[in-house]
Amino acid sequence: MPNHLDCNQLTFSLYPEPEKMFMYEQYYRDGEWQPGQIVPFHNIELSPAANILNYGQGIFEGMKAYRSVKGHIVLFRPERNAARFVRSAQKLAMAPVEEERFLQAVKETVLANEAFIPEDPEGRCSLYIRPVMIGTEPLLGVRPSKEYLFYIFTSPVGPYFPGVGVVRLVVLDVHRASPNGTGDAKAAANYPGTMRPKVEAKKQGFDDVLYLDAVHNFYVEEAGAANFFAYMKNGTLVTPQLGSILPGITRESIIQLAKDQLNIPVEERPVSIEEVVENAQECFLCGTGATITAISEIGWKGTVHNVNNNNFQLAHQLFDLLSGIQLQKIEDPYGWVHIVK
Ligand SMILES: Cc1ncc(COP(=O)(O)O)c(C=O)c1O
Repeated sequence: MPNHLDCNQLTFSLYPEPEKMFMYEQYYRDGEWQPGQIVPFHNIELSPAANILNYGQGIFEGMKAYRSVKGHIVLFRPERNAARFVRSAQKLAMAPVEEERFLQAVKETVLANEAFIPEDPEGRCSLYIRPVMIGTEPLLGVRPSKEYLFYIFTSPVGPYFPGVGVVRLVVLDVHRASPNGTGDAKAAANYPGTMRPKVEAKKQGFDDVLYLDAVHNFYVEEAGAANFFAYMKNGTLVTPQLGSILPGITRESIIQLAKDQLNIPVEERPVSIEEVVENAQECFLCGTGATITAISEIGWKGTVHNVNNNNFQLAHQLFDLLSGIQLQKIEDPYGWVHIVK
């Protein structure tokens, strides 16, 4: 296998020679989407006054293509990403991409980059797929763009959190999203505010920030790019309710797997940081990038709390179920896996 696809060497970063790969691009002009096409990966020309460069009208998605153990190239619940892309676009007053078009474009992009899909029966490596839409119209006043570019590029990737898939998180005095804001959209603008806190977390010896709600500064929301679960000592799996968090597709899948396959009661409700550090026997993050990543410790108000007294057992069980379905190792009772080829 060529080196660039060696799963032991892959990290969650952009492939160093993206110009060897292909991308999809489609423009929205004169009130309608123009025909889209697969083209070699290339730089984009934008006016310095483009909306995205000044007012940040941009959304994206994150998906993965896998080589399954049955030899297929597969996607996981891509229709959920298509639906979320529409909701994100609507939230930012952008022209939505019709779901069928989105799915077709994703499939075409994956097939064009087939040679870059790593093979990994452990589920750590895959071809990351990044659909993006940006407002391209040059303007000065703050208003929605009348022109958009929808594009998709890909990159072979390894794990989002390097190491053994266990992270230490810290609560800092900073919030990611507020009620009735854009936290539930996959808006590019939700992420720049998480960069300084992430740098600060690393300076303090942690891997990432655990964000609390902006009103009470007490209820757990999520990490910078992954949803949060706490398995309580009473045997209930708890995850923050939807609202200002991103409605993660991995989160949604884990809720269903825990209930159906493991008979674990799941509650979507406000869960305070105090409840987590006092009553959780296990905590983990989940997302397309993060897959399922166990949390060993959480720093809060100057104290580091051990939040794992269960040897990450549930995180491992859920990872085996989720990646088992994604890689066609076990039966997919939900029709979640889409075969591209
Ligand atoms: C802020 C945030 N929360 C949660 C997630 C997880 O969402 P999903 O499971 O759909 O990848 C992501 C993206 O991966 C994210 O950026």
